[in-house]
Amino acid sequence: AADLRSILLEINKEAAKYYHYQLKTPKGSDAYKYFLDRSLTDEIITKFGLGFSNRTSDDLYKYLKSREFSDSLLKESGLVSFDNKGGYDRFHNRAMFPIMDVRNRVIGFGGRVMGEGMPKYLNSPETKIFDKSRNLYGLNFARASRKPDVIICEGYMDVITLHQAGFTNAVASLGTSLTSGHAMLLRRYTKQVLLAYDSDTAGIKAAVRAIPILKGASLSVKVIDMTPYKDPDEFIRNLGKEEFAERINKASNSFLFEVRVLKSKFDLADPEEKTSFYNELAKKLLEFEDELERNNYTEAVAHEISISYESLKKLVNKTALTYDPVKFKESPVSETVSFKKE
Ligand code: GTP
Ligand code: MN
Ligand code: MN
Ligand code: MN
Ligand code: MN
Repeated sequence: AADLRSILLEINKEAAKYYHYQLKTPKGSDAYKYFLDRSLTDEIITKFGLGFSNRTSDDLYKYLKSREFSDSLLKESGLVSFDNKGGYDRFHNRAMFPIMDVRNRVIGFGGRVMGEGMPKYLNSPETKIFDKSRNLYGLNFARASRKPDVIICEGYMDVITLHQAGFTNAVASLGTSLTSGHAMLLRRYTKQVLLAYDSDTAGIKAAVRAIPILKGASLSVKVIDMTPYKDPDEFIRNLGKEEFAERINKASNSFLFEVRVLKSKFDLADPEEKTSFYNELAKKLLEFEDELERNNYTEAVAHEISISYESLKKLVNKTALTYDPVKFKESPVSETVSFKKE
């Protein structure tokens, strides 16, 4: 008998085929229209296997039963739940995004409400084959594209729009924050990552959290500026792929990005806050153990915040006498700042 994992993969594959098939039926026409309204082509809809889960409560359940999967296996798949009336589907009336592992096997789903509604996205629960902290959406295609770097964004739609625009190296985490598991997974395929998170407060926070995790896996990190748009999907729909390519070329060094975020938390018109900012900055520069590297960053930062290189270097050296950067490294910037301004 096949083992549990391969049966769960088979169930997910059948479900993906079923959801995708629904798109071209009358019941699925709203979902098909939803994808077209979001500027997706038939080609990309097929490539990503997008689909639709019907309004009826046990549509998928009945189909999978007809394929002779047992109730207990269907329960393990996370696609069906059971109560005293029988099996019912997890996903209803949602635009469906099958999630594939690096070997192109469907391991779970994300489902979006078409329009307003909570939750906006519903994902498969973690199962024996679906571990959100060890898989990245789009990595199967990104890996096959053999580009030298990987673009990390927040959402399913960002990944799909980027791929459609030719940025076939885009991936996203699965509705969770980026983990060291993700970073190690990425390191198998690339040395350089570009962060393309949302430009809102949550996206900036997520980027600040992700940077040390990625660097910890020996990845070099740059940050793409998405303003004035909210995310890569909106950016490309409004400004196009050439402009996005331009933003990639102009992507910021991740340390300078962190410094800008740090700076934004202080009111520099207030001398006390300004002093605190400089002190925090000096501590941050001490993250670099190599003297040449530290001096180069001190110079770049001094230039950016209009202070002289000599003054900033003096402050860094003074701070080094009383401060242990190893301890500092363990806590992310956002939590070490005393004057939070949101
Ligand atoms: P669109 O509105 O479809 O463009 O989605 P988005 O990707 O721009 O949404 P957002 O920036 O809010 O979220 C980014 C990603 O976080 C999504 O693609 C999902 O993976 C995940 N996410 C968003 N909302 C929810 C939610 O309500 N529940 C869960 N589990 N994940 C969510
Ligand atoms: Mn959200
Ligand atoms: Mn977001
Ligand atoms: Mn978004
Ligand atoms: Mn979006």
